[in-house]
Amino acid sequence: MGRQKTDGGPLIRLQDVAKVYGTGAANVFALDRINLDIAQGEFVVVLGPSGSGKSTLLNLIGGIDTPSSGSIVVKGNELNGLSEQQRTGYRKKNIGYIFQYFNLLPSLTARENVDLVASLLGRSKRTPALFRELGLENLAERFPGQLSGGEQQRVGIARALVKDPAILLCDEPTGSLDYENGQSVLELLRLINTRKGTTTILVTHNTVIGNMADRVIRLGSGRVAENSVNSSPCPPCELRW
Ligand SMILES: Nc1ncnc2c1ncn2[C@@H]1O[C@H](COP(=O)(O)OP(=O)(O)OP(=O)(O)O)[C@@H](O)[C@H]1O
Ligand SMILES: [Mg+2]
Repeated sequence: MGRQKTDGGPLIRLQDVAKVYGTGAANVFALDRINLDIAQGEFVVVLGPSGSGKSTLLNLIGGIDTPSSGSIVVKGNELNGLSEQQRTGYRKKNIGYIFQYFNLLPSLTARENVDLVASLLGRSKRTPALFRELGLENLAERFPGQLSGGEQQRVGIARALVKDPAILLCDEPTGSLDYENGQSVLELLRLINTRKGTTTILVTHNTVIGNMADRVIRLGSGRVAENSVNSSPCPPCELRW
C-alpha cells in the first residue's frame, strides 16, 4: 500500500464492525456496529470509560486483531481480505504504536532502542536525524532508567516514527505522565501530525485532551456515542487539567 490515497475516500473506513470475545452466554461485545470514517491527516481523540472498547478499536485498525464481523478498509484495502503474512506486512509498513508504559528495553540506550527497531524492519538507521528532528539529541546515549517518563515516551515516539508510518496509534500515551510531561508528549504528537501528515488516533480517559483533536469519538459500551468534528482545535499548550 502506498502513502497516497487512490480513491479519494477516507484513509480508514469501518463499516458495521463488531468484536465479540468469548462464546455463548459469556459473550462480550467489545465493539458493536461501529461505523466510522477517518480522513488522511486527521488527529482523532477517542474517549470513553474503561471497558468501552477503545483499545479494541486501535487493535483492529492496527491489524493486531481481526473483527468478528464487518469491514475495515485502510487506503482502499480491506483488512479482512489479508492473509496473516499480508497483515504483518500491513502493520510493519503502516502502523506506529505508542503505549502508556513506553516499553523501552532497559539495557539499551535510547538510540539503540530506536536502532533496534530500524534493524528489525530492515530500515536504514536514521536515528540521529530523527532525534534531532524531535529535539531528543541530548537523550540519545542515556539508558531508559536515566530518562524521565516524558523523555522515555518521546523516545517511544521516535521508535514508532522509524518507519514513517501513515497511521500512529496511541493508547493512553499520557496515562502515566504528570501534567508537564503529558503536555510535551501531546505537543510532539501534534507537531508530527502537522509536519508529516501522520494520521493520529489517540485513546485517553482525559476528556480535556479532546479539545486538541480534529475529531472526537466517544465510545460507550462498544458503540459510538459521539462523533464530532472540532473546527478549531486548541494547541496542546493551552490544555489544562
Ligand atoms: N482478549 C480479550 N478477551 C476477552 N475479553 C476482552 C479481551 N480484550 C478486551 N476484552 C473485553 O472487551 C471490552 C473492551 O475492552 P477494551 O480493552 O477495548 O476497553 P478499553 O476501553 O480500552 O478499556 P481501558 O480504558 O480500561 O483500557 C472489555 O469488556 C474487556 O474486558
Ligand atoms: Mg484500553
